[in-house]
Amino acid sequence: MRTQVAIVGAGPSGLLLGALLHKAGIDHVIVEQRSPDYVLGRIRAGVLEQVAVDLLDEAGVGARLHAEGLPHDGFDLCFAGRRHRIDLHALTGRRVVVYGQTEVTRDLMDHRAAVGRTTVYDADNVAVGGFDTARPFVTFRQNGVEQRLEADFIAGCDGFHGVCRASVPGSAIQTFEKVYPFGWLGVLADVPPVSHELIYGNSDRGFMLASMRSKTRSRYYVQCRLDEQVEAWSDDAFWDELKRRLPAADAERLVTGPSIEKSIAPLRSFVTEPMRFGRLFLAGDAAHIVPPTGAKGLNLAASDVALLARGLIQHYGGSDEGIDRYSERALSRVWKAERFSWWFTSLMHQFPETGGFGAKMQLAELDYLCGSVAAQTVMAENYVGLPIPG
Ligand code: APR
Ligand code: PHB
Repeated sequence: MRTQVAIVGAGPSGLLLGALLHKAGIDHVIVEQRSPDYVLGRIRAGVLEQVAVDLLDEAGVGARLHAEGLPHDGFDLCFAGRRHRIDLHALTGRRVVVYGQTEVTRDLMDHRAAVGRTTVYDADNVAVGGFDTARPFVTFRQNGVEQRLEADFIAGCDGFHGVCRASVPGSAIQTFEKVYPFGWLGVLADVPPVSHELIYGNSDRGFMLASMRSKTRSRYYVQCRLDEQVEAWSDDAFWDELKRRLPAADAERLVTGPSIEKSIAPLRSFVTEPMRFGRLFLAGDAAHIVPPTGAKGLNLAASDVALLARGLIQHYGGSDEGIDRYSERALSRVWKAERFSWWFTSLMHQFPETGGFGAKMQLAELDYLCGSVAAQTVMAENYVGLPIPG
């Protein structure tokens, strides 16, 4: 098999890249190790920046997002019995859209099926090679038969545990990492959200977030210890803990119900430099991870893919400027989102090791933020998303 671009991974990064390349008439194949149902079963964040919405529109998959997504003009910060609204729209003129990553993935999958582009699902033993030469390739086993896909370029869209980053020689790659000493216990439930906007809370029992997927489906999180087992958390125990961390009026209003998903996710900041190795490009979670506070993961994946698609389209139009500067441009946006996600995480969680002094620093910063339009503007500008460089 031969194609122009071999894409490894059919998560949001690989699928969006496929849609943008399809629109430009660039031949490509996606190779995914899991099944479509497995890919759709992963529950992740659900806040889209305008930049991501624009890209999904450009790719031709924005219709349901515009019909069903919930535009949000602000969110609440709660701490020490106080509540402050960050008015995103007044501060920046922009807003975000609440629409689950699962739905984005489904829309991209449906579009791909409708335009008849190839995705190889359930591929075993996926391996990449030759990317330091003019003839890169992807090999895999499909229904027991060995396959070899030759391409001009490989796009490594295979997530944090993928094979692409792992295939780069250690001497060519640098990684930067911070692991946080806690996780998020998340629950998805078909109950109306407690508030029409998101609430981020710093409570003395730990962080909490009240989010949603729709007007009838809520997504809630509480900070938990890393050694906790999700099976040990009954639904009742979760709702009780959430009520303790919500502002009193919200706790009284909270509608509870059976969970339809419950999981614990660790928090990590991670960046790979560079994001290009010869004819292999990394995009999305394959190259970087952010802690979920601020919901930057999917948005960063989208901006990487926008830069990569642009570079590849320019290449086939006769200029290598875009692919040559891909890594530098992507990383300049990645590091800013890493900084924001780290800062927001640091501001809102209980850090066992920083003690009373750390907690006082958080409260002083939150108090300052509430009184300073300049500080709120910095926060809002980062939350709604920075522009794509270049
Ligand atoms: N071969 C083929 N496919 C693979 C391999 C492999 N060796 N390893 C992993 N994959 C697939 C995974 O099964 C998954 O479907 O690559 C895909 C990667 O998808 P994601 O992990 O969702 O990563 P990405 O598409 O970059 O999306 C980033 O996902 O984790 C969230 O917060 C993150 O929202 C962000 C988004
Ligand atoms: C979510 O709805 O899952 C979500 C929303 C906002 C965040 C993180 C996660 O900052």
